[in-house]
Amino acid sequence: MNRGMNRAVLLRRAVQGLPSAEDFVLTERPMPVPGPGEVLVRNSFLSLDPYMLSAIKGRHMSGAADLDQTMQGDTVGTVVGSNDAVFAIGTRVIARGGWQEFSVLRALPAGAGGIDTLTGPYARPLPPADPDIADSAYLGVLGMPGLTAWAGTAILAPPEPGACFVVSAATGAVGSIAGQIARNLGARVVGIAGSAEKCVYAVEALGFAACVNHRAGDFPEQLAAACPNRIDGYFDNVGGRILDVVLQRLALRARIVLCGMIEQYQAETRLPGPSLAPVIGRRAHMMGLVVYDHVARLAEWQQLASQWIREDRLRWREDRAETLAAAPAAFVRLMQGQNFGKTVVVL
Ligand SMILES: NC(=O)c1ccc[n+]([C@@H]2O[C@H](COP(=O)([O-])OP(=O)(O)OC[C@H]3O[C@@H](n4cnc5c(N)ncnc54)[C@H](OP(=O)(O)O)[C@@H]3O)[C@@H](O)[C@H]2O)c1
Repeated sequence: MNRGMNRAVLLRRAVQGLPSAEDFVLTERPMPVPGPGEVLVRNSFLSLDPYMLSAIKGRHMSGAADLDQTMQGDTVGTVVGSNDAVFAIGTRVIARGGWQEFSVLRALPAGAGGIDTLTGPYARPLPPADPDIADSAYLGVLGMPGLTAWAGTAILAPPEPGACFVVSAATGAVGSIAGQIARNLGARVVGIAGSAEKCVYAVEALGFAACVNHRAGDFPEQLAAACPNRIDGYFDNVGGRILDVVLQRLALRARIVLCGMIEQYQAETRLPGPSLAPVIGRRAHMMGLVVYDHVARLAEWQQLASQWIREDRLRWREDRAETLAAAPAAFVRLMQGQNFGKTVVVL
């Protein structure tokens, strides 16, 4: 067992608006020692996710990020010390290990489920290693973001074949998978993304029918042109201005999955919301998506996604940063929309 030091990133101060790297501090602490029933895990990959800014501002359902405490986040790693009968040294695990190199964790207790599975301080073993799929995929396409995409697209509001299905943050961790699932179900998928480069990727690599840059001055007109028969389904990752533009193009009985409101995460006070009147006028259905409700079907999603990956019907992309010290800057990039794919720190 490593008796050296453990490096961790703490939240240093309250965040105003967008986060900056100075809001965090890298510290060195003595290596944690696992107690009875606990394991020491060397984290290999750390997931950075938009909800972390909500947590920093005390607004996320998974809990608040506390000052001077290690930032929370999902990790994939390997057991390097074990006082647990089930977890042998060398076991590859996924856990909420935090922004740190080593974590002390417990095995997921029998009977635990739902939100605890994803947000508790528990280690869960990964499926057998697959030479074609890096373990970091369990933080993205085969993990919480992938499950979120599948829940919203295939469970809550599956599109009809030929339907016009629009997804925002279309090249991101959730959006890229949601769009490809809709495409695989036969929909005509139109992405909304924040750069020309992202839009090219959405069409050429992800197989979307079209992609519109929301930073273009004539974004509403471009979206209308890309969706000539209006929008039957919308998977919303952003809210605010983009949602407002999409609502003006709804087809009759359109279905909207509200997945995320990233535009609001940086705001200190509530932003004036979009007019939801078209939802009523067009008899649209709008529903909230919480990934925690679908945890029981994670294995089913992983099986389907793995098959699609092997068949090249599902692609994912990672925006990697190297070393824990790079985590704050990578998080800032994510929250500024500069990430391109699932943000992962290689520790
Ligand atoms: N409901 C649930 O259970 C659940 C679970 C997981 C994630 N989510 C939500 O799903 C959304 C996507 O998450 P993700 O992990 O897949 O992130 P991501 O899409 O990989 O990264 C965030 C993206 O949001 C876009 N964006 C648009 N407006 C933005 C703004 N004002 N500020 C910053 N970014 C903006 C950017 O893409 P463009 O440049 O292309 O616009 C950016 O790259 C988030 O809102 C997240 O909170 C919800």
